Amino acid sequence: MSQFVKELISKMTFAEKIGQMTQLSGDFFASGNAAITGPLQQANLSQADLYRVGSVLGVSGFEQVKKIQTNYLKQSRLKIPLLFMADVVHGYRTIFPIPLALAASFDPQLVRQASEIFSREAAAGGVHVTFAPMVDLVRDPRWGRVMEANGEDPFLNSQLAKASVEGIQGLRSIPDAEHVAACVKHFAGYGAVEAGREYNTVDVSEWRLRDQYLSGYQAAIDAGAPLVMTAFNTFQGKPATGNYHLMRDILRRELGFQGLLISDWDAIGEMIAHGTAADLQAAAQQALKAGVDIDMMSMAYLKLANHNHLSSNLVALVDQAVERILNFKESLGLFADPFRGLAQRAEKQNLTTKNLQLAQQAAVESAVLLKNKNDLLPLAKDCKIGLVGNYADNPDLLGSWSWQGKTTETPTIKSALKAKFTKISSIQNQQLQTADLQLLKQQDVIVACLGLSAQQSGEATSMTQPQLPEEQLALLRQLQQLNKPVVTVLITGRPLVLDPLVKSSDSLLLLWFPGSRGAAALTQILLGEEEPGGRLPMTFPQDLGQIPLYYNHFRTGRPLTGNQSDLDNKYLSKYIDQVNQPAFCFGYGLGYAKTTLSESQLDKETYQASDSIQVMVKIENHSDIAAKQVIQVYSQQIVGETVRPLWELKAFQKVKLQPKEIRKIEIDLPLSRLKYIHSDLKSRLDPGNYRLKVGFDSQSGLRQSFKII
Ligand code: BGC
Repeated sequence: MSQFVKELISKMTFAEKIGQMTQLSGDFFASGNAAITGPLQQANLSQADLYRVGSVLGVSGFEQVKKIQTNYLKQSRLKIPLLFMADVVHGYRTIFPIPLALAASFDPQLVRQASEIFSREAAAGGVHVTFAPMVDLVRDPRWGRVMEANGEDPFLNSQLAKASVEGIQGLRSIPDAEHVAACVKHFAGYGAVEAGREYNTVDVSEWRLRDQYLSGYQAAIDAGAPLVMTAFNTFQGKPATGNYHLMRDILRRELGFQGLLISDWDAIGEMIAHGTAADLQAAAQQALKAGVDIDMMSMAYLKLANHNHLSSNLVALVDQAVERILNFKESLGLFADPFRGLAQRAEKQNLTTKNLQLAQQAAVESAVLLKNKNDLLPLAKDCKIGLVGNYADNPDLLGSWSWQGKTTETPTIKSALKAKFTKISSIQNQQLQTADLQLLKQQDVIVACLGLSAQQSGEATSMTQPQLPEEQLALLRQLQQLNKPVVTVLITGRPLVLDPLVKSSDSLLLLWFPGSRGAAALTQILLGEEEPGGRLPMTFPQDLGQIPLYYNHFRTGRPLTGNQSDLDNKYLSKYIDQVNQPAFCFGYGLGYAKTTLSESQLDKETYQASDSIQVMVKIENHSDIAAKQVIQVYSQQIVGETVRPLWELKAFQKVKLQPKEIRKIEIDLPLSRLKYIHSDLKSRLDPGNYRLKVGFDSQSGLRQSFKII
């Protein structure tokens, strides 16, 4: 602790200390001095409380930040600057594809660049901390927040968690004034809510939490995230926010997190509704003991002031939290410059050509081509296109958590296609009339842009039926009768269970919520200027009843063999009314060029635990166009001390090939990545026999065996 912080703390009253530990939303500060009505009154807070508060959320922009900070500094006794935090999740003014889409790029470098751009835009808007990245492992598309996640695989998740933090903070442990700090969330296991229902119970074993869920948070912390946010859910029957074991033993002691722990919105207060605290004071004490430094919006810590007999232990915990908060403010340079980063002409730095170009490239690299019958795509520039569907001329392409993004600045698919293709006929009606059908009959190809609205993914959007609505299927039924080739473009924030009608489209392109320049990216893909570069970061199930369905499931005692005999044996791990297979597996995605892998080889047969495997493989582009591929390396442990997933992604590399190029690729796989959690909850690598599989998705690939001694 610096001398400055030490002296400051010595001057603080208890009320000022718990004020620092409280975060309020922007509306509390909105009307400046006279804000005793509205939010303050509702929350039963005084102006004195307001001018002791340590941080504010959800505010940005020169005028507002300047006004709130200036007024606060004028009114508050100790003049400790406010920290401004906000959800800048996949863009600030320039909106990138949603995080799940960015995960489909399998490109950490791109994620780093995108994060850096939105971090710079946010910093100029006066934001100091973003509540991102969200690294909750997700396996249930019924949960709307899968759109904010990196998907179902712990390794991909951890690689992208690291890249996001590095980008957000500009590769610094404490970001400079042009970048914001990362707050990784939600600790821990929020993605495992039962039945995909928002805010529901989470009950994963500690073994599984450590084996699969923690790696994303660990990677973000190791990459320097100075803040962590608690999760709404329970862990081992206790709300995470008041969970001593989770926060003190696991997060702080084991993962080595030394930064600021902030609650999620009202998560301290919600311990009352969970039924694990009788009142706000009790909830505050539990959170404090668990090591939560900042109370977001439950005003529970403020209640500690009314407590007559706060134990010296709790008083010491308050001091520790305040010390962490002030150290952080000092490290950001806020005492020297409370307006750090805030740029009067921030608009000039936003939505620049460079930023938008990267957003477009990110959308290209995130788009997943699921089907392309008879190489229907790409289309010729002068082919006659009939454009239909709810997304044909709809700027709702940004996705949830893009509060500073503007649909008015987002070109629609129709406008972007018109700029490049010469013959576009677009139809507004969602139900086709006779004249529409006549018009469509004269076209060479139909492009149907379908999908869910941005409001149908994100927080509080759990769905029991993640699929396209009936009216969109009805449209496809009408189109089918025209006997024209159909390209279906899917806009969605989550994997969908695709009706056979959708799957029968000649081409199927998953665009996700592609962001500010998604429509231009789609145009490039349709024209063949760019190959779609995405691979699925989450399984697309065949059937709702298969959910949760993910490729890296554990082995069972009665597995399917994949042979004909499976049909005759009833007593296998399967359904009687559906196959186990997904519609599209993790890692899957097509390109336009035809590529193959061959001659896969490992540098040795036997390794020491400290070794890295050099995986060598030949990739060949058979086409006369450039190709993109994601080479994926999966491992399988033949015998483990606990059960192990059938296959686990352990390395990947995105490659770009020239027409007809043949290249030898070497991928480094440190064997430490094969460590896993044993039944004593410790992470170790086992000697023994293993397999590797090198392929273009999680279901196929070239196999090798090796041994660790
Ligand atoms: C969400 C968090 C978010 C916070 C602040 C909560 O409802 O769960 O992810 O950062 O609100 O907006």
